Amino acid sequence: MKVTDIEFDSFRNIESEKIEFSDGINVIYGENAQGKTNILEGIYLFARGKSFRAFKDKELVKFDKSVAYVKMNFENKDNEKTFLGAEISKSLPKKFYRNKVKVAKTAEIIGEFRAVLFCPSHLGIIKDSPSVRRKFLDVAISQLRPVYIKMMTRYNAVMEERNAILKMMSEERILNQDLMDIYSEELASLCADIADIRNEYIKKLDFWVKNFFEEMTGGKEKPKITYESNASENDFESRESLKNRYLDLLKNNKEREYKYGATLFGIHKDDLKIEINGKDSRLYSSQGQQRSLSLAMKMAEGEISRESKGEYPVFLFDDVLSELDDSRKKYILSNIKARQVIITGCDKGVFENTDECNFIYIKDGKRNIPVFEKVENEENLEADME
Ligand SMILES: Nc1ncnc2c1ncn2[C@@H]1O[C@H](COP(=O)(O)OP(=O)(O)O)[C@@H](O)[C@H]1O
Ligand SMILES: [Mg+2]
Repeated sequence: MKVTDIEFDSFRNIESEKIEFSDGINVIYGENAQGKTNILEGIYLFARGKSFRAFKDKELVKFDKSVAYVKMNFENKDNEKTFLGAEISKSLPKKFYRNKVKVAKTAEIIGEFRAVLFCPSHLGIIKDSPSVRRKFLDVAISQLRPVYIKMMTRYNAVMEERNAILKMMSEERILNQDLMDIYSEELASLCADIADIRNEYIKKLDFWVKNFFEEMTGGKEKPKITYESNASENDFESRESLKNRYLDLLKNNKEREYKYGATLFGIHKDDLKIEINGKDSRLYSSQGQQRSLSLAMKMAEGEISRESKGEYPVFLFDDVLSELDDSRKKYILSNIKARQVIITGCDKGVFENTDECNFIYIKDGKRNIPVFEKVENEENLEADME
């Protein structure tokens, strides 16, 4: 899968610009605050259906404008071209277009264009709160299984209602068991569906992370990723046993739930247990190990996507190379062949001597020719003329 070009109009600090990408490695470079990450944000918008860093869509619209447009063309491995467009208004909900036709719901475009994003905040995934690791799972799985988005949306809605009722009951000291049972039943059913998908994904993640991490560290360190949920290994044998497990937990902890006024069991409590050589990496891993693990997790995300969809997603690396040491950088570079990678950074860095890269210099939200390269070119020109 590859992005061939993207066009921005009034998006963040980009007034109007079209950027073309090549196969392989694309390096977007330039000084700070010029719009490099904004470009990746625009691309990733089509993978996730929303920005990876804005709270509200309107933040994406240029300060002095009311509507922003992003238009992207991408190709799959059979060279089939797809156009995706986004219209983001400061006052109306955003609209997506596929091949010029308006898409009814944002969720409908998710999964069509697939990308793996790796940005500096992901380097903390090992030590961050469980919600960050759940988000990693949700974002990765959503691109592969659109039905998962529906399940999660429903789950959150049911849980919210259940919590509101629990809160009300605990405040008013009344107990409506029949009503609670209806909610528990649906919640347990959704827990079983979601936990089953997460469990399957985490097994693949464990396999690929082992593979990448051992390659990076020469095999001395063995990572292990397991699913931390309310269910135990045996419960995963059938959907029925999985559902019953959650139902039991919800039914047998009524008193506690009334006391807290909230749902205390379910997939919203899930986490990933990440170990190196049997030791919990949240507690014991060094910063270097954490970085390698987070990198391995991102590479694994790409591999699982390839296995599931038959081609690599696009890799978007935002400013992470400068955060990694030379051996990890080299590892990335030797392992990203046959994929399209779009990397941002302050300088051309390790790519300087690589001919095969497509270099894109960004200044003030525009594609530009850097001053120092201009001078060099002019010097060459003069030398040629002499
Ligand atoms: N809605 C917006 N309108 C105009 N400029 C914006 C908007 N949002 C962010 N910016 C500007 O974009 C720049 C940051 O762009 P970014 O892509 O994060 O930079 P970098 O090149 O360092 O990755 C900042 O100058 C910021 O002021
Ligand atoms: Mg940036």
